[in-house]
Amino acid sequence: MSLKRKKITVVGAGFVGATAAHWAAAKELGDVCLIDIIEGMPQGKALDLMQASPVEGFDAAIIGTNDYKDTADSDVVIITAGLPRKPGMSRDDLLFKNTEIVKAVTEKIAKYSPNAFLIIVSNPLDAMVYVAHKVSGFPTNRVMGMAGVLDAARFRTFIAMELNVSVEDVTAFVLGGHGDTMVPLPRYSTVAGIPLPDLMPPEKIEALVERTRNGGAEIVNLLKTGSAFFAPSASAVSMAESILKDKKRIMPCAAYCDKEYGVGGYFVGVPVKLGAGGVEQVIEISLLPEEKAAFQKSVDAVKSLVQKINL
Ligand code: APR
Repeated sequence: MSLKRKKITVVGAGFVGATAAHWAAAKELGDVCLIDIIEGMPQGKALDLMQASPVEGFDAAIIGTNDYKDTADSDVVIITAGLPRKPGMSRDDLLFKNTEIVKAVTEKIAKYSPNAFLIIVSNPLDAMVYVAHKVSGFPTNRVMGMAGVLDAARFRTFIAMELNVSVEDVTAFVLGGHGDTMVPLPRYSTVAGIPLPDLMPPEKIEALVERTRNGGAEIVNLLKTGSAFFAPSASAVSMAESILKDKKRIMPCAAYCDKEYGVGGYFVGVPVKLGAGGVEQVIEISLLPEEKAAFQKSVDAVKSLVQKINL
């Protein structure tokens, strides 16, 4: 058994990346390496975060760098590099620009950390996970995307706000691609084990589902100069935590599905078991016809995006 500290690299030291470094360090998941193309910026943020450690009382070495050599032998790499959405821009508009960025980043990460687990955050998410998988050549259990945890967290938040109950007692279940085609499943969403349809009329559930679907855009419209970062980074770090601590949590992630759900070889949002083996299992649940149709629509949207990418 190795008692060596784990190493988490976060690529992109912008809003999502720096906040991910913050959550990871504060949870003492391991040492953190923050890398960006902008000179000085990751170094400055890393030093600032290190200086928070005596105040907050966490032990983690945090370094900032522009050199991929410093990322060597990472256990988990969270990729947030890319352009964020601006108002009026869909995640798909980011496709071509972020494909180039994720490709370049993944090549270097794979070279220095050939055994790492990759958690992709850059959008359009499901397509960027595909790019990272293709470029790294890593097995599919080591490449995944953060979307479902965030989408479920948004749904949980809205349910808790509506019912005036603790978010801790709310669970939510979402499937499908990250974006406008995500498929929240109210009948598998509960408050202290009570299914949502027993607690709210269908039109109220539909309103919360709609707000969840537009959860990212709602924040983009408020911020005007960028996209959400607290909840996305917390979500990515919770996935890293489940892997690093072998917690075997069941989380909705963009995972590789071939026969599973009849997807045919794409990364889409499905419930998975996350442990020391990365994506240890894709959990298949039976879907009602309308849920199946909504999931298929979501898978089709992911496929059409991926087909636009030339790798
Ligand atoms: N290598 C490393 N870092 C890069 C590269 C690259 N090739 N290209 C861009 N970056 C960095 C930028 O310099 C910037 O600091 O990625 C960072 C992105 O940070 P922000 O612009 O603050 O964007 P952020 O809000 O963090 O979103 C990042 O996450 O949620 C998604 O849609 C969002 O794709 C976007 C990503």
